[in-house]
This record gives sequence, C-alpha cells and structure tokens, in this order.
Amino acid sequence: MATPRRTVLISGCSSGLGLELAVQLARDPKQRYQVVATMRDLGKKEALEAAAGDALGKTLTVAQLDVCDDASVAQCLSHIQGGDVDVLVNNAGVGLVGPLEGVSIATMQSVFDTNFFGAVRLVKAVLPGMKRRRRGHIVVVSSVMGLQGVVFNDVYAASKFALEGFFESLAIQLLQFSISISLVEPGPVATDFEAKLLAQASTAEFPGTDPDTLGYFRDLYLPASSQLFRSVGQSPGDVARAIVKVIGAARPPLRRQTNARYAPLMALKALDPSGRLYVRTAHRLLFRWPGLLRFSLRCLACSCLPSRVRPRPE
Ligand SMILES: NC(=O)c1ccc[n+]([C@@H]2O[C@H](COP(=O)([O-])OP(=O)(O)OC[C@H]3O[C@@H](n4cnc5c(N)ncnc54)[C@H](OP(=O)(O)O)[C@@H]3O)[C@@H](O)[C@H]2O)c1
Repeated sequence: MATPRRTVLISGCSSGLGLELAVQLARDPKQRYQVVATMRDLGKKEALEAAAGDALGKTLTVAQLDVCDDASVAQCLSHIQGGDVDVLVNNAGVGLVGPLEGVSIATMQSVFDTNFFGAVRLVKAVLPGMKRRRRGHIVVVSSVMGLQGVVFNDVYAASKFALEGFFESLAIQLLQFSISISLVEPGPVATDFEAKLLAQASTAEFPGTDPDTLGYFRDLYLPASSQLFRSVGQSPGDVARAIVKVIGAARPPLRRQTNARYAPLMALKALDPSGRLYVRTAHRLLFRWPGLLRFSLRCLACSCLPSRVRPRPE
C-alpha cells in the first residue's frame, strides 16, 4: 500500500523562501507531500500559483493565514482535512535594521509579534494533534542571526535568538512524543527580504539618532550589507532544497546551516566562547578597516569555495 502523503503547512508563501519551498515540496518526484501554502494576503497568490503549475489543486493548495492573528490560524487549520498537520514550517518573517534610538518600541514589538510569537502561535495550534498522533516535525526558518548578533540588526537578531532558545528547549520535551524540531539557519538569501529592508532603511529618518551613529549606519553598514548579499547570498532555491532535505530526513537535525560561505564569520564566535574575538573582529572590519572587509567579502565570494554546506548523511 502506498504511504499516505504528509501534510505540510508553510507560513509566508507569497514570496521568497516560502514560495520556493512550497513549490519544491509539491513537485516532489516521489509525491510524498500535500502542501498547504499559506500567506496573509491572498491578493499576492499569483506568483505562487504560476510557479506551482500543474501541482496547483493536486499536491498544493493555497490558504489565507496571518501568523499574528489567532482567528486566521484557527480558520486555516479548520480547512485541513482531519485538522492534522504532519510538518509545520514556520517561515513567515520580517526584518528590521537601523539604529535602535530611532526605532519605536511598537515597531520592535511588531517584529517579535511576527518572527517569534507568530511561530509560537502556530506551534500551539498544531501541537495537540501532533502529540495525540505521537509524530510530527516542526521546522523553523531561523537565521545565522539566531546564533550571532550583527550590527544594526539588534532587534531582528534578538527575535531569531528567541526562536533558537524556545525551540531548543521544546525539542527536549517533544522527543518524548517522537516529534522533531529543526532550526534552519540561512545566511543572506537573495529574496525580497533585502529589498524591503533597504527600502525601509532608506526612507526612515530614525529620529533622535545622533549624527555619528546615523553616518555609520548609512555610510558604512548599508553598503557593506549590500555587498554581503551580493557576495555570499544564496538563492532561495538552494535554501529551499536544504529544507526539503531536512524534511525528508529519517532523523532530522536540530540545527542546519545552509551557507558554507558564511561559515568563517560563524567560526569567530565558536573559536572564542568569551565572545571577544567575534565582537572585536566585526567592529574592526566595519569601523576601522572597511577596505579589508570589502576584500574579505570578495574572497568569500570566490568560486573556489563551495556554494553551500555539503549535506551530511542523515
Ligand atoms: N532573505 C534573507 O536574507 C534571510 C536570511 C535568513 C533567514 N531569513 C528568514 O527567511 C524567512 C523568509 O524570508 P524571505 O527571505 O523569503 O523574505 P520574503 O520574501 O520577504 O518573505 C517573507 C514572507 O513572510 C510573510 N509574512 C510577513 N508577515 C507575515 C504575517 N504576519 N503572517 C503571515 N505571513 C507573513 C511575507 O508576506 P507578505 O508578502 O504579505 O509581506 C512573505 O510571504 C523569514 O523568516 C526570514 O527571517 C531570510
């Protein structure tokens, strides 16, 4: 008898990683998945539907889901046959960059509402069913910024650190119910994410920020960030393929980084548990030796390096 398809619910499928992942899973050659690709605004479903092609209505359905809205989550789950989600992918997320003096607490809270509480809200909704069935897989699109702080990304990084702590803690309890958790940690990915951030950063005035800090942000950080995306950025397709592997694994990993070119930056933290090596190196590269930073990023982009972390045997 054929194995029943696993129902996969993904948040934030209007663009970027969520869209790519939904399409790759729906087009799985072994037809292992029934994908519920969700987005908060169904007015944006055209790109997903076009990319899904003939999988639309067969292995992929599109549904409305705003991760910040309890009623929307409940409504979405009520349409899933049997209400059972086998794999939940918490992908929806928003970025925020800029000097914190110029960002309101309400704006910071809205980042946590989406990135952290949005994921928690979905988990609370699907967990009782997973526990009852004693199986399930929760995948969280975290970030390298869930492991390592990055200048002028204070609030975004904090929201991803919060996810890392929450889901690592939950993973211990859920082993008892045979439910797996996987935190996927991409580096920069070439999606609308960066464009949205740059648009927000270039129009924001950051009131109350002193001129020195504003200058560092606009003249040093923003150009360096653009170069980082250009030099080590992965395609959403590559990251989605890494997530597909995690979902298909017999023993899913708790953590999976996707970008080998970002690994040297991550190594700075691992090499010195006091944190001094990473903070001082990042500070010097941005504020003292921006020429060296540009050169290092060009080296990281060199094609002699592998383009992504080699898959480990599952
Ligand atoms: N791009 C990167 O460099 C990068 C790196 C590491 C991790 N990530 C993470 O990857 C995930 C996907 O980002 P992406 O790069 O694919 O960016 P993206 O193209 O901007 O996609 C973000 C998605 O989240 C959705 N979203 C935002 N708020 C939502 C809400 N309240 N309810 C439901 N959906 C909501 C967006 O919908 P709308 O279209 O309605 O706004 C969009 O579909 C995020 O968690 C992000 O933090 C991205």
